[in-house]
Amino acid sequence: MRTIDWVDGRIIAIEQTLLPGELKVVEIDDVDQLVDAIQRLAVRGAPALGVAGALGVALSAHKGGDVRADAARLRAARPTAVNLAWGVDRVLALLPQGVDAMTAEAVHVLEDDIRRNRVLGFRGASWLAERLGRKVNVQTHCNAGALACVEWGTALGVVRALHETGSLGHVYVDETRPLLQGARLTAWELARMGVEHTVVVDSAGPTVIARGLADAVVVGADRIAANGDVVNKIGTYPLALAAARAGIPFVVAAPESTVDLATASGADVHIEIRDPAEVGVPNALNYAFDVTPADLVTAIITDERVFHGKPLG
Ligand code: MRU
Repeated sequence: MRTIDWVDGRIIAIEQTLLPGELKVVEIDDVDQLVDAIQRLAVRGAPALGVAGALGVALSAHKGGDVRADAARLRAARPTAVNLAWGVDRVLALLPQGVDAMTAEAVHVLEDDIRRNRVLGFRGASWLAERLGRKVNVQTHCNAGALACVEWGTALGVVRALHETGSLGHVYVDETRPLLQGARLTAWELARMGVEHTVVVDSAGPTVIARGLADAVVVGADRIAANGDVVNKIGTYPLALAAARAGIPFVVAAPESTVDLATASGADVHIEIRDPAEVGVPNALNYAFDVTPADLVTAIITDERVFHGKPLG
């Protein structure tokens, strides 16, 4: 089943806030509903946000809305994942050609997400299997699975490809506070795939690495800056530090649409700060993302290439 789709002139999406308790689909009929779904993380994950942005602009055109204003609202719905603006701009560029051309482009962005993430998943799996030469025990953070994309994940797409090729050992899933994308969503996806996995509290993540339980850390990304810095869910950076200390690969799996050459470094990225209520105390500083410096990243694996350091280097 697709995480997000375009059916009869409307968007349908899995309501991710209810997982794993309930698998429910929401129907999105206008841009207000889509902005709301994005902001409360009913639809989330960088590639899925790119598709949501693309479909949202097409939806606005279908409704005869003010497409430019709707596109601006969609772009601003969440600031950190560059894919959202990328998806919006892909479809907005076809505004002069009319609603049919815009819809076709949005559906193309959606279909392409499946194809590209599948390619990057198998590329990442062979990179790890060749490098490590044995079944790979993977540690991952947040949810970079099908739920963060359309049908095939990025980091979890690598895990899925390792599983399908018989090269996967055990998977350690960081719970990913405060909204538990790891414990709720990644664990749910892995269970459906039949993959052996264990959830660990975030503060145990570096210890899992230090104790030799994980052979590699594989995560997704919300934005990869021109200097190779990687922005991803808060709690990623300590895993990269621990991986460097332990001498295991820290691998980032992301589509090319996550590479943002217009942003010089991680320091230039707008890091979303969310409502303290999500943490459960009023004075929480609820950073949603962190920056892993390029020198801690062993490899960035995309649908087109594997690179180390700067995307253009
Ligand atoms: O706040 P979220 O759940 O949208 O954050 C998602 C992440 O940080 C993912 O790791 C990232 O988007 C990559 S998803 C393929």
